[in-house]
Amino acid sequence: MCSLRIFILGTFLFMVSIPSFASIIGYRGEIIHFTGDYLEDKSAYQHYSDGILLVDGGKILKAENYSSFKDIHLLSELVDYRGKILVPGFIDTHVHYTQMEMLASYGNQLLDWLNKDVFPTEMKFSSSTHSQKIASFFLDELVKNGTTTALVFASTYPQSVDAFFMEAQKRNMRMISGKVLMDRNAPAALLDTPESAYRDSEALIKKWHNNRRLQYAVTPRFAPTSSEQELRVAGDLLAKYPDLYLHTHIAENQQETEVVKKLFPYSESYLDVYGKYGLLTPRSVFAHAVYLSNDDFNLLARHHSAVAFCPMSNLFLGSGLFNYGDAVKSKVKIGLGTDMGGGNDLSILRTMSEAYKVTMMRKAGSQTPDNILPVSPLENLYLATLGGAKALDLDNHIGSFLPGREADFIVLDPQSRSILDLRVAESTSLEEKLFAFEMLGDDRTVLHTYIMGKKMK
Ligand code: GUN
Ligand code: ZN
Repeated sequence: MCSLRIFILGTFLFMVSIPSFASIIGYRGEIIHFTGDYLEDKSAYQHYSDGILLVDGGKILKAENYSSFKDIHLLSELVDYRGKILVPGFIDTHVHYTQMEMLASYGNQLLDWLNKDVFPTEMKFSSSTHSQKIASFFLDELVKNGTTTALVFASTYPQSVDAFFMEAQKRNMRMISGKVLMDRNAPAALLDTPESAYRDSEALIKKWHNNRRLQYAVTPRFAPTSSEQELRVAGDLLAKYPDLYLHTHIAENQQETEVVKKLFPYSESYLDVYGKYGLLTPRSVFAHAVYLSNDDFNLLARHHSAVAFCPMSNLFLGSGLFNYGDAVKSKVKIGLGTDMGGGNDLSILRTMSEAYKVTMMRKAGSQTPDNILPVSPLENLYLATLGGAKALDLDNHIGSFLPGREADFIVLDPQSRSILDLRVAESTSLEEKLFAFEMLGDDRTVLHTYIMGKKMK
């Protein structure tokens, strides 16, 4: 009797606790992902040269060695990506969808570029139809480039945010965006007021924040285009809704930092301008941070705020060289950003190549070059995946293949370019192979992009 009860109970437990294999898909290929803060712990990653990624209902079950997985016959499907690399989807921690049409504008540095190239383009986003067309184009380009999550500037017009979120939701992409706050030093047609900024932002927050995979970022453009009242509005919104993001630019260009000193003479530093209004939070992302001091990095780290390293933009606009080494030492959270249109592409692979060059130039300019290491191949991949997820406070949802994470992942193909294929065939270590992908890869290298387990490319 007793043994019969145990038998029935055992059968029941088996039925409830083992997931139904009927829905699990396995993806076989080389797998790399990070399990913790790789900048601090160089063992915090997993690499399976012949691995299997198990996905069920849009979530990751686990990644492991193919040879240790004994239940292949129970899978609903086994997809063979041998010869290719599976990594988590790329995360772009700073980009402007409203600059899609004017990327690659010649000759101007930041302040002239904003006035001559950016602002006239952003005026077109007063039209919902135009916003929707460009948002759709932009998101399709992200998918082509393997970028599955981004922190995105829209424009001052609330309708440009509605259009962006609607298009992101159609694709089920995890996206963060917000209306730009800007009430001075730009064309009148692009300005809001502190009152309209609060009202319009709050309406958008109620509509979109935490609506499925979408989240809202309070987005003052940068200190020069916000009055003190407008920065106070940003702080008030963050205080009222503490899980919002804060997204802005900081210390990108030397002329810009001089302007900030003149506009905010009583502030101790550029960062202090934002700090005074309560804008340093664990969900704050500051783009560029080229001209920040060690004290600034340390202060950001204490507040658990993040910086977006945007090397392609910093080179394209001739802004300067981000101090990666000091940023890492401070333990501030760091993600990679394309900053397109400041950056001249949406490719995170190409951004990794620019990151490497920026850190090499830092070495060239240093008194003690032997003490400076350029960003390594694994660090670059970390910044583009789990590092970016941590910068966006989303590492419990995306950025790795740990169990339960959302199944946003990409398949990289060495055969996308013959020079990449040749170089990969010559490589004798994981680092060497990854470095080839990062230096030679682009949108062609992303063979497939999966969003919540659904193949989108
Ligand atoms: N600073 C203020 N606005 C912008 C912008 O649109 N792009 C960049 N790169 N920097 C900015
Ligand atoms: Zn930017």
